[in-house]
Amino acid sequence: MSIMTKINETRDFLTFKGVQAPEFGLILGSGLGELANEIENAIVIDYNDIPNWGKSTVVGHAGKLVYGDLSGRKVIALQGRFHFYEGNPLEVVTFPVRVMKALGCEGVIVTNAAGGIGYGPGTLMAITDHINMTGNNPLMGENLEEFGPRFPDMSDAYTAEYRQKANKVAESLGIKLEGGVYIGVTGPTYETPAEIRAFKMMGADAVGMSTVPEVIVAAHSGMKVLGISAITNFAAGFQTELNHEEVVTVTEHIKEDFKGLVKAILAEL
Ligand code: HPA
Repeated sequence: MSIMTKINETRDFLTFKGVQAPEFGLILGSGLGELANEIENAIVIDYNDIPNWGKSTVVGHAGKLVYGDLSGRKVIALQGRFHFYEGNPLEVVTFPVRVMKALGCEGVIVTNAAGGIGYGPGTLMAITDHINMTGNNPLMGENLEEFGPRFPDMSDAYTAEYRQKANKVAESLGIKLEGGVYIGVTGPTYETPAEIRAFKMMGADAVGMSTVPEVIVAAHSGMKVLGISAITNFAAGFQTELNHEEVVTVTEHIKEDFKGLVKAILAEL
């Protein structure tokens, strides 16, 4: 089956399930999926029931699509995303973004847990730009002309207008929202201290194992993007050891601010 046929089939399935005219997609990273529980008039669909959809395998990722109203907007939220390190082809990792576009979403809020290069645990960071260190690109292969051009401009991949609104909202809520460059790696290993020193010299402020493929696909199709990283730890070399439990614990602490911030931003977009 061609990718276009798959996208259309999944779009039609979701429409049939009641996913009507969504305005925004929310991709919720590790530990941040709870936001979807606040969606009103929710239609909840298990990933296993969605045709052509990947399978979610990471602890802390629920594997559900939730559609409904949040802050007066129609949203599709993904509780759990697909990672490259799980062995998913990037076509699978980015498929939900394609479907969001096909359903008519104008923008997407992409969130993640990330290691801080400079920023410390507990920081919320609006992504200003990214560095793709995955050695791969989800747009390789035949270009989907229906979505966008062969050689898409990435100069404003993280939409300045959305970020300005996010900064204003954060200020009004008294939540500190930093800004910085996200460097996307494949994982699943955390980085070596030497890699982090190199990334720092390259201009990165946060490092993580997601987001970059989804944002490339969103930008290709002209979707507006807001990226938010929850910094869960100092990156390798800035602290003695790294582990997933710490990422989960710190996310627990940031998530109230995170949820409040994203809800308030949505109302303004
Ligand atoms: N590196 C990569 N991904 C991450 C990290 C990190 O330090 N923390 C949370 N996700």
